[in-house]
This record gives sequence, C-alpha cells and structure tokens, in this order.
Amino acid sequence: MKLTPRLQAIAELIPPGSVVADIGTDHAYLPVYLLQEQICRRAIAADVKEAPLAQAQETVAAFNCHQKIDLRLGDGLDVLKEEDQVDTIVIAGLGGRTIVRILEKGQEKLKNIKRLILQPMNEAGCLRLYLAKNGFAIVTETLVTEGKHLYEIILAKPGQEQEKDPFRLALGPRLLENNPPLLPVLLQEKIRKLRTVYRSLQRAQKEDVSKKLHKVQKELTCLQEVLDHAGKRTDNH
Ligand SMILES: C[S@@+](CC[C@H](N)C(=O)[O-])C[C@H]1O[C@@H](n2cnc3c(N)ncnc32)[C@H](O)[C@@H]1O
Repeated sequence: MKLTPRLQAIAELIPPGSVVADIGTDHAYLPVYLLQEQICRRAIAADVKEAPLAQAQETVAAFNCHQKIDLRLGDGLDVLKEEDQVDTIVIAGLGGRTIVRILEKGQEKLKNIKRLILQPMNEAGCLRLYLAKNGFAIVTETLVTEGKHLYEIILAKPGQEQEKDPFRLALGPRLLENNPPLLPVLLQEKIRKLRTVYRSLQRAQKEDVSKKLHKVQKELTCLQEVLDHAGKRTDNH
C-alpha cells in the first residue's frame, strides 16, 4: 500500500517492533501499512463512529491483516486496555482541541506509552501547550504538504519539555530550532489568518475590542520577527 505524504510522514516516526493504536483510524490505511511493512507487530485501529470502522474493516480484510489488527469502536483512548501493551498512540486528522480532550480523558491510559504521534488539523499550539504542561516533551516536529494543505506532525514522549516560552512553545519549539524549509510557509499562513482576525476585530466596533486588537497586533509583530529570522536562516542554508 502506498500512503499519502501526510500518513507516510507519520509512519516514518514509528520505530520497528512497535505496538500501535491508531485512534480515529477511519480507513485504517496507516495500521495496514505499518503491518505490511513489518514496522509494527500488532495494531489497534479504533474509531468513535461505525461507518469509518466499517471502512477500516474493509481495508483490513482486503489486505488480509485481520489477525494482527484489532478493530475497536469507541471514544478516544477508552478502547485501550492494559493488556494491549500499546507503546505508540497515533491521533491524526482531528482538531487540536479534540486531541487534547482525548488525551485529558484518557490520562490513565498514557502511563506506559512510549510515544504519541499527533497530527492536529488546527490549534496545534494549544495541543503543544497541553503536552508540555502534562509531562510530555516534544521530541520531533515535521511539516508536510499534501495538495494545498500544510500539516504539522508532533512526536512527543514522556518527559520534561525544555522550552518554557509560551509563544515559542505554541509555534513549535523543534520547528523553530531546526528551521525546516516549510517553516516560512507555516508562519505566513499563521500571519494571514491572524490578519483576518485583526480586520474582523476592527470591524466589530465593540467597546472591549481595543485590548484584543493590541494583543493580536503584538502577536503579528512577533510572528513577523520569527518569519524574518527563519527566512534569513533559510537563505544561509
Ligand atoms: C479525518 S478522519 C482521520 C483519519 C486518519 N486518522 C487520517 O489521519 O487519515 C477523523 C476520524 O476520527 C474519528 N474520530 C473523531 N473523534 C473521535 C474520538 N473521540 N475517538 C475516536 N475517533 C474519533 C472520526 O470518526 C473520523 O473517522
């Protein structure tokens, strides 16, 4: 099976011999690929809805993986049991706040986990802040494009995150350190979205808007500074 660039980038973060739970699996492409490539020994493919799980069932049957992939219906980490001995949890393609909610609700299930691989569709900053506050260090961050979209992928492991500055933490501490070629694209996208917020606040004509405008303006200035810096370093590469 050939994965899309986004799922391929996720697969590349999973070491051989892992036992993986793919939460919100939908079609189960990732766990099937991981088994076919002998990257994982066993996998749990879970989804909260029946229709996606039926899709997953079809993929698993088509690739004859039913002995090594356990399909489970349920919310977030509720589906996991201690005896599964899962060491790697993947949650990809969901909103950042939904991923936070899943991790928060499933805290008990995270005790023996070696790595979390998370690909939020939005609000990656809020997810990173949650991870850092809840005993996870951000180890690797990857940017990948697929079609018109740019995706952020976070590999976190139990431990103490060293970045303390909330702005840098939310933006992606390892991205800022490593300055990958797609970082300027990510920053430009964030600036574009924030400018839209700024303009709509300007139009709102509410009394309490000036404080918010000031905050957004300050964030825009900081983002522009990071972008200028990232651009310079890219020129020097
Ligand atoms: C856009 S798909 C992503 C599929 C796949 N993970 C990927 O990245 O290509 C999101 C899937 O997450 C499932 N989902 C949403 N909330 C969930 C939750 N709380 N627990 C488990 N699955 C969930 C949805 O039903 C849907 O099938």
